[in-house]
Amino acid sequence: MEISFSPAPSKETKSLDLIKSFEKTINDPSIGFFHLPREEKNLIRCLDVFKRFKKRKDFVLVGIGGSSLGPQMLVNALGNKEERNFYYLNNIDPDETFEILEKLSPENSLFYIVSKSGGTAETLATLTIIMNWLAKRRIDPKSFRNHLVFCTDPEKGELRALGKKLGIELLEVPQNVGGRFCVLTQVGILPALFAGIKVIDLLMGADEVSGEMESLANTANFLMDQLKNGNDETVLMPYSSKLRSFSDWFTQLWAESLGKEGKGLTPIPSYGATDQHSQMQLFMEGPNNKVIIFLEIKKFTYDFSLKNKEEGQNFQLLAPFTLAQLMKAEFEGTLKALKDAKRPFLKISIDSLDEKNLGKLIVFFESLTVMMAHLLQVNPFNQPGVEAGKINAYQFLETLKK
Ligand code: PA5
Repeated sequence: MEISFSPAPSKETKSLDLIKSFEKTINDPSIGFFHLPREEKNLIRCLDVFKRFKKRKDFVLVGIGGSSLGPQMLVNALGNKEERNFYYLNNIDPDETFEILEKLSPENSLFYIVSKSGGTAETLATLTIIMNWLAKRRIDPKSFRNHLVFCTDPEKGELRALGKKLGIELLEVPQNVGGRFCVLTQVGILPALFAGIKVIDLLMGADEVSGEMESLANTANFLMDQLKNGNDETVLMPYSSKLRSFSDWFTQLWAESLGKEGKGLTPIPSYGATDQHSQMQLFMEGPNNKVIIFLEIKKFTYDFSLKNKEEGQNFQLLAPFTLAQLMKAEFEGTLKALKDAKRPFLKISIDSLDEKNLGKLIVFFESLTVMMAHLLQVNPFNQPGVEAGKINAYQFLETLKK
C-alpha cells in the first residue's frame, strides 16, 4: 500500500502523539475492532455453519447499516457470484421485498439475519415477513432452523431470545465491536465464505495494518490540516467498479463515527472512471471544500486489447492500448487536472484487488476514522442521533394504534 498527498503535508511532525492515543484506544478491552484478525474462533464457528448450509444457492442477508454494508462490500469486491446468488434485504421497501422473495424458494435459500442489538425495527419487520413467507410454504416453525441463521449480541436481545426458542444457529457480534466496525466479525465472515472469499488471507491482510501507524497518522493529520482550511467534505473515489460498495461502506463509517457535537466531515461516495462524467466537474471547479481520497488498483486481473481497424480518429488513438491502460490514463489525467486546479487529494495505491489488500484497506480506514475522531475530539463508537431516530420510530408506531 502506497500513499501520496497533494499538496505535500507540512514537514512539522505531529504523528507521535496521535499514534500513542490511538494505541491507548485499541488497547482498551471495550474496543475490539483492531484485534479481530487474530480472533480465530470467528472463522472456526462460521466454517461450521457454512458446512451445514453450503448447498444453498441463494444467500439472503437481512440487516441494516453496519449489519449489511460491510458484508455487501466484501461480496461485491471479491465474491464469486457464479456459484450463488446474493440478495440484501437492507431496506423496508415493500416492493423490493416482494420482488426478492418472489425469486426465492425455501429449499434453495439461507436467510442470514444480522442485528447487533437484536431490536432494530427494520430488521425485525423483514424477519417477520420471512417467517410468514416460510409458514405460507408449509414450513413448520420447528423447521425454521433449516432456513435461518441469526447473528447478534452474545448475551441479550430479542433476536437472540427468538433464536434460542427456535433452535436457530446463533452467530455473534462481539460486545466490544460496534455495527460499522463489524465487517471482520462473524457478521462478514459467513457471507464471505459463501462468496468463496479466502477469509484467512483477508484477516492476514487486516492484521498488517499494525505496521502502518505512521502512514495512518500522516493521513489523519493531512485531513485535519485540510479541514482547518475549510475542506470539510471527504470524497472516496476508488477507480474500480468492484470497490463501489467500499465507498458506501466508508460513507457510513465516516458519517456515523465522526458526525456529532456539531463536528464531522461529510463523506461523498464516488467511483472512477464513471463519476469523472458526473461528480468530477463539481470536485474540480465547484466549492473548494473537499479532499478526494483516490484508491488505485495497479494491476487488474483481466484486461482487453483496444486494437481495431476503424477509421475514426479516437478509435485510432485507442487502438495501441488496453482497457487497463485507458483506466490509468483517465486516473492520471484527473490527478493532474486536480493538481493544476490546486484541489487537495490523496492517493492510496494497492498492487491488486485481492483478499490481503482488501483486509488491509478495511482496517486502515477503520483506524483512520478513529484517529480522525481523536483529532476532532469526538467519540467514534456511539451514534446517539441514530438511536434517537430508532426510539422515535417505535413511539410513532404507538401513536398509529390510537
Ligand atoms: O453502526 C451502527 O452501529 C449502526 O449503523 C447499526 O449497524 C445499525 O443501526 C443496525 O443496528 P443493529 O445491528 O443493532 O440492527
